[in-house]
Amino acid sequence: MSAMTIEEVCRLAPVVPVLVIDDLDKAVPLAEALVAGGLRALEITLRTPVALDAIRMIVDAVPEAVVGVGTLMNAGDVVASARAGARFGVSPGLSARVLDAANDAKMPMLPGVATPSEAMAAAERGLSVLKFFPAEANGGVSTLKAWASPLAGLKFCPTGGINVTTAPAYLGLPNVICVGGSWIAPKQAVEACDWKTVTRLASEACALNV
Ligand code: 3PG
Repeated sequence: MSAMTIEEVCRLAPVVPVLVIDDLDKAVPLAEALVAGGLRALEITLRTPVALDAIRMIVDAVPEAVVGVGTLMNAGDVVASARAGARFGVSPGLSARVLDAANDAKMPMLPGVATPSEAMAAAERGLSVLKFFPAEANGGVSTLKAWASPLAGLKFCPTGGINVTTAPAYLGLPNVICVGGSWIAPKQAVEACDWKTVTRLASEACALNV
């Protein structure tokens, strides 16, 4: 399996679904439903006890998916998720230890930033694609517009509080490469194994213009 850069991962589709998987039995059908709708890059957050097993299962069973890991908080998380097969990593903030561990594991990273100082620190480490988090709470589209000129050369994946209605305004910005969000896999639909709804939401997300 060839390695992808984080930019390549982010360009697979306009939206990266952020997934919180509580029930391991739902992991594979959920991934299949998202891939069927055209979303291949999947962020499995490390927020549940089954997250690493979910990554392993999806990697094995859904080869079309590009499985990533989210909510990386420390170096141990990076090592464990790389072993589980995660091909990219997402963190809520910028941590030198997490980035060092990801370099060692050859895991492309999408670290979170919320200020120009954090974005500059990430750029100093050679990163040019960053998660803007939490997007809506930090001024959303207005903030990214204000960053475009001084932080030229940086591209963002805004995440946090975005939905299908608000995504287009982000995707229309020149410094936005894709958006992240959990709306594509609503808890209720996943609990009910309503994979048709998940695929429909994924298709809608996939059709948003970047
Ligand atoms: C998260 O970390 O949960 C992501 O930012 C997703 O946020 P959302 O649920 O607001 O889309």
